[in-house]
Amino acid sequence: MNIIVVADNKWGIGKNNGLLFRLPADMKFFREKTVGKVVIMGANTFAGLPHGALPDRVNIVLDDSGKKYNGAITATDIPQLLRLAAQYSTDDVFVCGGASVYAQLLNKCAYAYVTKAEADGNADAFFPDLDALPNWRQVSCSDPVCDGGITIRFCTYCNTDIA
Ligand SMILES: NC(=O)c1ccc[n+]([C@@H]2O[C@H](COP(=O)([O-])OP(=O)(O)OC[C@H]3O[C@@H](n4cnc5c(N)ncnc54)[C@H](OP(=O)(O)O)[C@@H]3O)[C@@H](O)[C@H]2O)c1
Repeated sequence: MNIIVVADNKWGIGKNNGLLFRLPADMKFFREKTVGKVVIMGANTFAGLPHGALPDRVNIVLDDSGKKYNGAITATDIPQLLRLAAQYSTDDVFVCGGASVYAQLLNKCAYAYVTKAEADGNADAFFPDLDALPNWRQVSCSDPVCDGGITIRFCTYCNTDIA
């Protein structure tokens, strides 16, 4: 299982249940990584999707409210989610947010694809600082790219406990 996230220079990831920046190149990267694969997200992140379930992907939503989601499978807790995810190749499963789901699943993930935005988005939702965690190591980072007026880098971290 992997994580995919875009974070600002304070590891901020969202504000008012929305994303911090509009980043077309990062959205393209996200699509390329996840199309044909499995995406896992929390109820708040799903609620923030402009067109509902992400197309051409298996969508799994974590939600214990009993709500039904069009185009998505619901998992009511982490053990059920892990059983569902185990039906797929682990490399094909991507944890897509938000903050609470990232925090709960981080240590089940082998790789984190972190798009780093060189900006402060004044976030109210955060990702764990992987540079401060002993079991996470940055293995690569792209050259800077200008995306929607913001400098971004596509970085990969690996969980040394798993990968
Ligand atoms: N930068 C990025 O890459 C990125 C990606 C995705 C999201 N985000 C941002 O992250 C923020 C949202 O994060 P968030 O933490 O508020 O929301 P979230 O993680 O998307 O969803 C939280 C909700 O999911 C359900 N849930 C979570 N864990 C559960 C569990 N173990 N069992 C059952 N249900 C569970 C609960 O819903 P119920 O209370 O309804 O049961 C909980 O309220 C937004 O600002 C969003 O834009 C950023």
